[in-house]
This record gives sequence, structure tokens and C-alpha cells, in this order.
Amino acid sequence: MRIAIPKGRLQSPVLATFANAGYDVPTESDLRTRKLVFARGGVEWIFVKDCDVPVYVEHGAADAGIAGLDQILEHDCTAYQAVELPYGRCRMMVIGAPDAPRLTDGSRIATKYPLITRQYLDARALRAEIVSLGGSVELAAVLGLTSHVVDLVETGETVRVHRLVLQELVTEITPRLIVAKNVYRTKNKEMRALIARVEDTVDESIVA
Ligand code: PRP
Repeated sequence: MRIAIPKGRLQSPVLATFANAGYDVPTESDLRTRKLVFARGGVEWIFVKDCDVPVYVEHGAADAGIAGLDQILEHDCTAYQAVELPYGRCRMMVIGAPDAPRLTDGSRIATKYPLITRQYLDARALRAEIVSLGGSVELAAVLGLTSHVVDLVETGETVRVHRLVLQELVTEITPRLIVAKNVYRTKNKEMRALIARVEDTVDESIVA
């Protein structure tokens, strides 16, 4: 079984979840070696960028993985979303430059999520322009490159320090354990056991 772990801010809590579920996960010193694949306790753990987890799972290069709903939606990932994890919760928001009006035809929006943003605009019959960026997207509204931004808001600190304005909720975001649908069929016993172990750990952490 191969499981994709997102590098970045979810990596530590995700590894802790699998460790609590009884899995033998790579340690901090293993990870310092810069290796990206570790065989441990019958599982091959692979470490990929958070945006790539749905891609590996969708194409069957990993049986399962942990991905944020933002990345699942942006990649139109059809994998089975088996367990919602109790951390990393945030909101995807429309954020305005300080004097920007609400979104309207002709607004320009900077985002790392062009597909989600396009779907959000289409659902409201808005003809706004999308500017795709790779990160630090709030800067686009600060510098006047765009009037708006669609991005994740966790603590709200980035928006606050740049004096931007929260305007509309696009969707609530949580990380999920995802399993490719065909893998769920072909390795059903193994996948059900994985889901049950992660689910039990998450339930215990909520009760505790
Ligand atoms: C994320 C997100 C926001 C920020 C929100 O960026 O894109 O910029 O965190 O968090 P806050 O509400 O707690 O301030 P990240 O640090 O992942 O970097 P990036 O923008 O370069 O992707």
C-alpha cells in the first residue's frame, strides 16, 4: 500500500495521526535525509507537495493520501473522501483590496485556485478576470495588480496585516483521507482497514 503525505504545514499533524493509528511512520531524522519514499511497516510513504496529493491518488500512483478540500476541488479529483481530519480547518474566501467593491463583471481576481474561482464566478454569472499566481496572492491586491483575491484564510493575520477585506465565503476547507475509487474496489479489505484505523484515531482525538 502506498500513501501520499503532503509536505508543508499538514505534514506533522498528518504523520501524528498515522502514528496514533498504529502505523510505523518515517521519523523526523528520516525526513531530514531528503528522501521522498520510505518503506515502513508494509506501507510505502511518499512525500509530495500538498497540491500534488490528489494527482498521485487520481492517477493510481498512490493508493491513498491526505489532501485539503481546496486541492481536491482544484484538481477535480474523483477519489473517495473517506475521513475528514480534525485540524487544518480554514476558509476559502473572496478578499478585496481596501476600497474594492463587491465582485462584479470586470473585477480582476488573483488566485492559486483558477478552477474553483471560475466555478464560483460561473455559478453567479459573473464575468471577472482571473490572474493565476503561485503563492503570496494577497500581494496582488496590495499592489493593485488585481481588485480581489481568492485564497485560504486560517487565522486572518495575512489579510489583517495587509489591510485587505474579507468579502465572501467560497467554501469551508478541511484535510481529508482520500482513496482512489478503483483502489477501494480492488484492495477493498486493505483500504477499509486503513479508513477504519484513521477514523478511530480521529474519533478518539475529538472525544479527548
Ligand atoms: C496561506 C494562504 C494565505 C495564508 C493564510 O499561505 O495562502 O496566504 O496562508 O493564513 P492566515 O489567515 O493564518 O494568515 P501560505 O503560507 O501557505 O503561503 P502561500 O500564500 O505562498 O501559498
